[in-house]
Amino acid sequence: AFFDAGAKPLSGRKIIVTSGPTHEPIDPVRYIANRSSGKQGHAIAAALAKLGADVRLVSGPVTLADPAGVKTVHVESAREMQDAVEQLLPADGAVFVAAVADWRTADSAGEKIKKVAGEGPPALKMVENPDILAGVGHHKKRPYLVVGFAAETQDVVRNAQAKLKKKGADFIVANDVSHEGGVMGGDRNRVKIVSSAGVEEWPEMGKDEVASRLAALIAERLKTIEV
Ligand code: CTP
Ligand code: CA
Repeated sequence: AFFDAGAKPLSGRKIIVTSGPTHEPIDPVRYIANRSSGKQGHAIAAALAKLGADVRLVSGPVTLADPAGVKTVHVESAREMQDAVEQLLPADGAVFVAAVADWRTADSAGEKIKKVAGEGPPALKMVENPDILAGVGHHKKRPYLVVGFAAETQDVVRNAQAKLKKKGADFIVANDVSHEGGVMGGDRNRVKIVSSAGVEEWPEMGKDEVASRLAALIAERLKTIEV
């Protein structure tokens, strides 16, 4: 038909979303993690699916259910998340919401580390994890639209602008994570949309509303690009 009343703005668009924390193993029973709940990333995946997108969610360890209508891959560590994202390329868009651990232990022990009398605590040697967003932002299979997040406790806009450039993103959704009992784990968020066009401040709203507005913005942007 020339006019399909059931058509949704993101029909036929494949969009990758990362969400949640990553866990970096120390030994078989211990890991390094962060306070990300996955709420914002999962809400974005669900909102994109509602607009008809073929959403591929790569989720770190969360207690949330897989969003309805979203193909979800579960990973633990940053390197597993990077591999999963790489496998999913090419895509029309990618939204990096995950709070990826910046560092992992240089080598995780194969056996549980034991207390040894007189030896004191083990020293953990850390190495940097790959930057998944930057890898995709500069990838030969770069999606048309690449969106990152920025968690900051100070100089929010300046830091977000630096990340926009360095990581090759089209948008950075910046939030201030400094306040106690705030963004991390909570249900509400206040973000700034940072792009080469400038900074757009959104009022404080529920994470579901941030998600639906962001999905609408992504649909608007992709509309101008040929399928
Ligand atoms: N990100 C990523 N891979 C990493 C680190 C971050 O894909 N190893 C992504 C996040 O998903 C987010 C963006 O990069 O979309 C910014 O993450 P953030 O932690 O705010 O920035 P960093 O570059 O890690 O810098 P810092 O933590 O020092 O502020
Ligand atoms: Ca980081």
